[in-house]
Amino acid sequence: MTEAMWEAEVGDDVLGDDPTVNALQEKVARLFGMEDALFCASGTLTNQLAIRAHTQPGSDVICDKNSHIYLYEGGGIMLNSLSSVKLLDGNRGRITAEQIAEVISPEDDIHSTVTRLISLENTMNKGGGSYYDINEIKSIRQICWDRKIPLHLDGARLFNALVETGETPRQYGQLFDSISICLSKGLGCPVGSLLLGSRQVITKARRFRKVMGGGWRQAGFLAAAGIYALDNHIGRLKEDHMRARVIGGIFSDKPEVQEVYPVDTNIVIIRLQNTISEVEYVQKLASLDIKAVSFGKNLVRFVTHLDFTDDHLTELKKRLS
Ligand SMILES: Cc1ncc(COP(=O)(O)O)c(C=O)c1O
Repeated sequence: MTEAMWEAEVGDDVLGDDPTVNALQEKVARLFGMEDALFCASGTLTNQLAIRAHTQPGSDVICDKNSHIYLYEGGGIMLNSLSSVKLLDGNRGRITAEQIAEVISPEDDIHSTVTRLISLENTMNKGGGSYYDINEIKSIRQICWDRKIPLHLDGARLFNALVETGETPRQYGQLFDSISICLSKGLGCPVGSLLLGSRQVITKARRFRKVMGGGWRQAGFLAAAGIYALDNHIGRLKEDHMRARVIGGIFSDKPEVQEVYPVDTNIVIIRLQNTISEVEYVQKLASLDIKAVSFGKNLVRFVTHLDFTDDHLTELKKRLS
């Protein structure tokens, strides 16, 4: 990857003149069968640009109560888009067509916000890497068509879902109006996310990115890493999932652990007994040089990725025995 980065041909992406950025955007748009794509510095930026492009001030966005766009993007829906949220209580972050249909705001009600976006997350970070049944997404899509509301996907870890289900990016491209994918998580790039959508959505997003100061130059060095990752790092995500399942098994035997969430992909969430706080437990793990994050009351999260090998797994078992 680093060799590909050093060899990249670069230019000014603010002017649309960076050949490697253009190649990455074209590659990903083709992969998903979508019209256009925009390379950005982070998944927060691609999500926020999508929300900004789809909504107007006074809108609401329907999403799960644990969505990244709501919990972890600094109130961006309100700050960047002057819009509100309607939060649903999903099954490990997965919301249903039925739940959505119940809360769509009636457009002619002046008392209410106007629903202008529905946003799903797949895989779901707070749900412990859970992923959707595509049939549920199809039912949600139908509602979006019927009510003329765009559908966005926070697909920061979409490829983790795809390697498990055998579904294709193209199937997802047909179901969503915009998709954000991250290159910097399981795919192992130093930086980078892409927003995919129609030419119209991406044109708007490009303008908002510039306004927010997110236009960049010589970004081709980073885009080259993305091209390398897409060519070489998708298939191997399954290895991360296998190691995550082993980690889940290790923690299920620990006396401090009350519950391990089902391990579906590369995220392991454990719920602790009340005998130790999540902060203390993370500190205890850090003293063994095991990195985890506290993830809400009694919850700790572990993530596997391409730098976590079988040797690390063996070492982890040893340190926890
Ligand atoms: C589901 C999800 N969406 C979006 C993001 C944001 O990505 P970034 O950290 O690149 O802003 C994250 C980051 O962890 C995430 O887990």
